Amino acid sequence: MKNKKHFVVAIDGPASSGKSTIAKNAAKLLNCIYIDSGAMYRAVGLYVHQNEIDIQNEEQVKKSLPEISIKIQNQGDGTDNKIILNSKDVSKAIRQPKISQNASIVAKYGAVRQKLVQLQRKIANNKSVIMDGRDIGTVVFPHADFKFFIIASAQERAKRRWKELREKGEEKPLQEVLDELKWRDKTDSSRKIAPLKRPKDAIEIDTTALSIEEQTNLVCNYITKKTAVH
Ligand code: DC
Repeated sequence: MKNKKHFVVAIDGPASSGKSTIAKNAAKLLNCIYIDSGAMYRAVGLYVHQNEIDIQNEEQVKKSLPEISIKIQNQGDGTDNKIILNSKDVSKAIRQPKISQNASIVAKYGAVRQKLVQLQRKIANNKSVIMDGRDIGTVVFPHADFKFFIIASAQERAKRRWKELREKGEEKPLQEVLDELKWRDKTDSSRKIAPLKRPKDAIEIDTTALSIEEQTNLVCNYITKKTAVH
């Protein structure tokens, strides 16, 4: 590892577990790029929504895939992802709750996963990257140099998500946020292809009672101890 030119860090976990915050902070510290794989599933979910494609119809969603072009532009220090869907910046639009749900549905389809996994591998080619998602350590990069699995209690994750929504001016009862989160957990972990699960060789971190700084330090200290990149 010490003499290796590029390294890959896979960070998986359920929604609002803290993985993207950790991934972004670690990317900044390690001077590598951050890739948000969930944003790609969200972009497909948004396309399906905008074009009134029947999301429950796998064949129709599959047929629409050649019309979908997704690009991730790394902004500034490389940790901010701008998501481009067919030449349009959809970074904000993909964060709507309806699109979270759509992303989880299209993520069940083999053809969607095949297209996006290919794109994820292409983006990471010849670069040091930190990628977060649900199947990064199990499917996308089974030989990643580092694998982390980030968890937190459903209550705590719902609280974080609720706060995030409130900051954006989207008030919603906490129970509703919790129900949506549980639905997504179930959909993501029970699907047939590449379900959310802890890679056997991943380090598990429970962030329920940790501050963002503590979460980031745990991951970064582990990586910097084993790499020459600090
Ligand atoms: O990380 P996120 O909440 O933005 O992801 C949105 C959805 O995309 C998630 O509910 C499941 C799907 N997803 C996936 O199946 N595999 C990934 N590597 C990333 C996300």
